[in-house]
Amino acid sequence: MTRRKFVVGNWKMNGLSGAVGEAQAIFAAADDHAGVDVAICPPFTLIGAMVAAAPGRAIGGQDCHSAESGAFTGSVAAPMLADIGAELVIVGHSERREGFGESDADVRAKAGAGLAAGLSVILCVGEPREVRESGGAIDFVLAQIAGSVPDDFDPQRLAIAYEPIWAIGTGLVPTVADVAAMHGAIRGALAGRFGDAADRMRILYGGSVNGENAAELLGTGDVDGALVGGASLTAAKFVPIIAAGAASG
Ligand code: PGA
Repeated sequence: MTRRKFVVGNWKMNGLSGAVGEAQAIFAAADDHAGVDVAICPPFTLIGAMVAAAPGRAIGGQDCHSAESGAFTGSVAAPMLADIGAELVIVGHSERREGFGESDADVRAKAGAGLAAGLSVILCVGEPREVRESGGAIDFVLAQIAGSVPDDFDPQRLAIAYEPIWAIGTGLVPTVADVAAMHGAIRGALAGRFGDAADRMRILYGGSVNGENAAELLGTGDVDGALVGGASLTAAKFVPIIAAGAASG
């Protein structure tokens, strides 16, 4: 089964209105690289402007609330993202699991809300450094998968992003063998739960992906794409990663 490569930019809390032009440049350059799906998840404040400036492109949120609406000051609901033209949403990023105390159950509810609103979902998992060093990374991540992946969904609309916490924004990257082992274990767990549908789910790698290491990472078994933070903020840094995705597809 061939899965199209998926390269996603997570802009985190970066970008004022002037950055919309950078997103346009990224999407325009992506057209030179057939065979790879490209998405950008800017801060909530830029989604509407980006959708207007780059119609038809895959633009998404970095989080959503699990409720459809209500008294949740400061939160954004999945139907609101869909309403302004977002196509996808990231849930369970480690910066939210750690910084905002989100549990697996919270992440599962958010994923369900995103899917119910018609969005595609990128659900993040990943182990902290001490768990990697103690040899428990695979067990840790499979427990996150068991607890945070919902039961019923179109496999093409839910991707997993494996992002070791110690690799995010640090310049550190696991060995290709470790990435392959983790992605294989995730695929196996998904197959155990969802059968053949697991073949249609994309598993992305994230954590210090850049133009230099992207080709190797994206060419690794069971790596179907990349979730990219710092190197997704400019076309100059992001387009080489998109090109690597296309070349490995
Ligand atoms: P990074 O972030 O590419 O800056 O390491 C990845 C992420 O947190 O999604």
